[in-house]
Amino acid sequence: MCLALLPFQVFSQDKKPEPGVFMKDPGSELWRQVRQRDMEGVGISQVRGVDSGVLINARGDQWARFRMTQLSTYGGFAIAGIFAIVILFYVVRGSVPVEGGLSGRMVKRFTDYERVVHWTLAIVFLFLAITGLILLLGRPVLLPLFGKEVFSLMASASKEGHNLFGPLFLVSLIMMLISFVRRNIYEKGDMTWLLKGGGLIGDGHASGGFFNMGEKTWYWMVILIGLVIAVSGLILVSPSLGQGRVIMELSHIVHSIGALVLMTVSVGHMYLGSIGSEGALEGMKTGYVDINWADAHHDRWGKVCHEQDLIISAEEYARSQGQKPGADKMETAEQSK
Ligand code: HEM
Ligand code: HEM
Repeated sequence: MCLALLPFQVFSQDKKPEPGVFMKDPGSELWRQVRQRDMEGVGISQVRGVDSGVLINARGDQWARFRMTQLSTYGGFAIAGIFAIVILFYVVRGSVPVEGGLSGRMVKRFTDYERVVHWTLAIVFLFLAITGLILLLGRPVLLPLFGKEVFSLMASASKEGHNLFGPLFLVSLIMMLISFVRRNIYEKGDMTWLLKGGGLIGDGHASGGFFNMGEKTWYWMVILIGLVIAVSGLILVSPSLGQGRVIMELSHIVHSIGALVLMTVSVGHMYLGSIGSEGALEGMKTGYVDINWADAHHDRWGKVCHEQDLIISAEEYARSQGQKPGADKMETAEQSK
């Protein structure tokens, strides 16, 4: 038993270090010393490195228990819960239509570069979210479903993929910060959006600028929580930088909680940016939005578009998308012959 511990030497502070492990009462006394319960951090080892004098990290048990019980349970419920809420919302309310319908007259909202930045960030985020969730929830959820062989392949591929593509998240986050920041500074009119609960309270109309209060808040969550996730992720991915176990444990907790918060809110964002709100996805898909959508959701920006005569006709818009004007109508006529 002692042979396995030979490189180690555990001693109390008032005694000089001598080789070997000392025990008054074999068994419990041995493990008390090995775990260094009474004299944390005073073990020495021939192995050189941070924390190498700690044979068993007692606090590590607490961290592992927290990860395997609270973090994975509450995290799993949060993700499943938000999907349930969004599905329920869709069943009850359906896609929120634009007041007065879509006009076909369009206004430019995003440049090609801005759309590339958004979709790069979104794709990298979703990849990291899926691989991260496989690591966190795989054991209780996927292992019983797929068995050991398939799950071990999934877990190791997720780990490698997550570590490899993680740094891309920081790059796309900085690109998002730079290209969208100017339009996300809070302004006076934004409070009315909040007071009207984003249109859910009162007459259903909440005033907004280029981005409304809800979008600005989402943007700052992505940037600030995203930076915390990225920094803690980089600490986790490079364990040989000299950080000890405590820093690694804290980074892991901060990383996972931040990621779970952002993943949960992102489900709401993806819903509102697609099937939840008529005409919303158009801007990120083509760069243009319908002027009636702009007036309904971003009235202050819509007003500027009217004043500066920035609206283009349905024909001009079709040309900008490389279609012949009325091409969709001709197709319908052909089919109905
Ligand atoms: C299927 C997935 C997604 C869809 C359909 C989607 C849709 C959209 C749309 C339509 C907009 C523009 C809204 C407007 O014109 O006012 C937008 C903006 C934005 N999206 Fe997404 N998105 C998706 C995923 C994501 C993900 C995963 C993230 C990041 C974690 C993200 C972050 C953002 C940010 C930061 C903005 C800008 C908001 C602002 O600057 O105020 N999106 N998204
Ligand atoms: C700079 C970006 C990132 C880096 C460098 C990074 C790195 C890491 C590393 C090294 C781990 C530990 C993997 C392991 O157990 O071996 C991890 C875990 C995890 N990451 Fe990331 N990550 C990044 C971004 C993200 C993002 C954006 C999300 C979510 C949207 C995310 C979600 C997670 C989750 C859920 C875990 C699992 C924790 C667990 O298994 O206990 N990460 N990450």
